[in-house]
Amino acid sequence: MSDKVILTGARPTGPLHIGHFCGALQNNVAIQNAGGYARMYGMIADAQALTDNFDDPEKVRANVIEVALDMLAVGYDPKKSILFIQSAVPELTELTFYYMNLVTVARLQRNPTVKSEIGQKEKFANGLPVGFLTYPVSQAADITAFGATIVPAGDDQAPMIEQTNEIVHKFNSIYGEVLKPVKIITPDSESAARLPGTDGNAKMGKSLNNCIYLKDSADEIAARVKTMFTDPNHLRVEDPGNTKDNPVFIYLSVFAKPEHFAAFLPEYKDYAELAAHYERGGLGDVKVKKFLNAVLQETLKPIREKREALARDIPSVMEMLRVGTEKARAVAAETLSAVKHAMKLNYFD
Ligand code: TRP
Repeated sequence: MSDKVILTGARPTGPLHIGHFCGALQNNVAIQNAGGYARMYGMIADAQALTDNFDDPEKVRANVIEVALDMLAVGYDPKKSILFIQSAVPELTELTFYYMNLVTVARLQRNPTVKSEIGQKEKFANGLPVGFLTYPVSQAADITAFGATIVPAGDDQAPMIEQTNEIVHKFNSIYGEVLKPVKIITPDSESAARLPGTDGNAKMGKSLNNCIYLKDSADEIAARVKTMFTDPNHLRVEDPGNTKDNPVFIYLSVFAKPEHFAAFLPEYKDYAELAAHYERGGLGDVKVKKFLNAVLQETLKPIREKREALARDIPSVMEMLRVGTEKARAVAAETLSAVKHAMKLNYFD
């Protein structure tokens, strides 16, 4: 039996979109289905979501179920993965408190992901909540509580993994070998890892209103594609076009498979041929967008249909999460007990 333990996490701040799908979800499901690990967990990080949404508990609560539906719809399988809700595992909070002794404020302030998030959040202009600054410590608790050895995630999570390993090493050197180091695995394709928004913005994000959601209807997808940003200098069909900073082409490079070409645009064999024609000139945006719409419809339809079926029985989804959370909690309790023992906090053993 392999001793690999895999943990994935998603913040429930909105329904998941195609950026999450090609940057993480699709990858995670492939890992899940390939097997060869001891355990795999899918955590819905509601407590972490509250670190910058503490003023909107209803939003976080509503999105826990949205994210659970998205995860199940893309193929997370409760028979293979333990899906659970972070806040319902209170052992994580207790671990966080002990780990906080092992991290300096300066180190947290240097975390590049946290630093850039703080800079972008207007609501923190008048003061930074301690909870937000310290969420990497809580993430170290998430990871170590389950003995995770592998975290599949985007590049933006690399600083969290680095901090987790620092905490692991410091803990083990002071209190004895209890915690396991962890590795991140990131998607191989640069475009898949960072899918731009439909407006060409480098990030797809709810507040930017530039997302295509996994739950979007066929009409919503079509409307988004129709208004997508392309190459602004490609005015006439015969003009040479730019495919590099053009979200329509970036999406096609990620989503269009040879079978999509065969079915919807047989004049071209693959992405490379289509892109070469656009670059050369003589290929219009309307035609390319029509193709992208067909590709996205084909890709998202089965996910949406599965999601709709699951959404008809929310109590079953909640029950699945309850069972997963119970299993996760048992594992986290063991780690917490080992941690407290190592820290000489086991008075009544
Ligand atoms: N920070 C992650 C995100 O923003 C979510 C997360 C919380 C996570 N805890 C985790 C991811 C543990 C992996 C492992 O998406």
